[in-house]
Amino acid sequence: MTDTKKSIHGEWSSRFAFILAATGSAVGLGNIWKFPYITGENGGGAFVIIYLLCVAVIGIPIMIAEIMMGRRGRQCPINTLETLTEEAGANKNWHSLGWLGVIAGFLILSYYSVIAGWAMAYVVKAFTGSFSGEGAAQIKTLFSDLQASPGQQIFWHTTFMFATMSVVAPGVQGGLEKAVRFLMPGLFVLLMLLVAYAMTTGAYMQGLAFLFKPDFSEITGDSVLTAMGHAFFTLSLGMGAIMVYGSYLPKDISIAKTSILIACADTLVALLAGIAIFPIVFAYGLEASAGPGLIFQTLPIAFGNMTGGWLFGVLFFVLLVFAAISSAISLIEPAVAWVVENYNVDRKKASIYMGLATWFLGLGTVFSESFFEKIDYLTANLMLPLGGLCIALFAGRVMLQKHTQAELALDNETEYAVWKFLVSYIAPAAVFLVFLHVLGVFG
Ligand code: TRP
Repeated sequence: MTDTKKSIHGEWSSRFAFILAATGSAVGLGNIWKFPYITGENGGGAFVIIYLLCVAVIGIPIMIAEIMMGRRGRQCPINTLETLTEEAGANKNWHSLGWLGVIAGFLILSYYSVIAGWAMAYVVKAFTGSFSGEGAAQIKTLFSDLQASPGQQIFWHTTFMFATMSVVAPGVQGGLEKAVRFLMPGLFVLLMLLVAYAMTTGAYMQGLAFLFKPDFSEITGDSVLTAMGHAFFTLSLGMGAIMVYGSYLPKDISIAKTSILIACADTLVALLAGIAIFPIVFAYGLEASAGPGLIFQTLPIAFGNMTGGWLFGVLFFVLLVFAAISSAISLIEPAVAWVVENYNVDRKKASIYMGLATWFLGLGTVFSESFFEKIDYLTANLMLPLGGLCIALFAGRVMLQKHTQAELALDNETEYAVWKFLVSYIAPAAVFLVFLHVLGVFG
């Protein structure tokens, strides 16, 4: 039945277009802003290893599952879940999985937009030469001034939401495909440049050691949960974002290979960001555990002191904002597609309603850091892993083998068997054990 069906929202023009869009979703503030600061807060190397393991063992199989489910269902996650549940003759409670995702995306975007707004403010600061020749102390003041100004933050949060919704409203395929094409290579080049600067700081090896030399005594139950949650966050998994992108995917594309490629690109960007940032942290005597302000207190020092730093600073923050937009649209796309499919509303109106609601919730983060911390914990550490756990069980155990096999069309039986085993047993068990661990079940 679903085999010939296309999404009413259109399709990607090619495999490459899908890779760009999905990579655009995955690579964002999670890689450049969040990964370094949570690595700093959780003691470095050991945390990084756990995160990498989670990406490989939990993230990739679940990404394959999500894209596969989306392509089979061909609708927003809520309706896809309904179709697939019916097709498999399964319990209607699986419908709630779609809802969990839409709510999670909405909650995440509310703060994501505020942080992306900080990056926008930094484009202006870079442009007006605020970093030029400054030391760590002045750079820190620039950041705390921004934090102390709700007016500025609201202005940029509003601008960012506006920019995001103007990409979402006409449909994600057109403008997005074009933007991401130059964005990803550009971001990569600038990160390499920052790594080159990091090498000149005199603390390069110290930075590398922090990132890659594991000290497991730094690890608590909560750090394991944070590492796992971040694997979901950074790959855009567990809430239907990649599922909805999968629903625009043409039939003849290999889902497994594409997923591995996206996960590798995403991981590479995060590690490069870490390699660029930590040497600066140590060279200038900053705190690795500075929290959400970490990149804003470190990278401007590099731009302020390198040749051509003015231009590179402007470019870097512009690209960071674009990377954030290409991620933000995937956070809200499931909700917009749902409104369009279920109510007699066009994309434009649906985008305006959803954008306004998200904007309003974002004010919570502007006015209260603990509001941000709670939403972040609830979504990244609980909702995404729970959503991912259910997606894994659904794809591995509820959907009929003949359907998943047909959809994935893997070259040989072994590849399929490996995926099926990971997604049915290993990934769910891993998520479950981490949850139990945090609840203190193991003492
Ligand atoms: N992955 C993006 C980042 O790293 C954020 C993001 C986009 C996301 N879509 C998502 C996170 C869906 C979780 C779920 O910045």
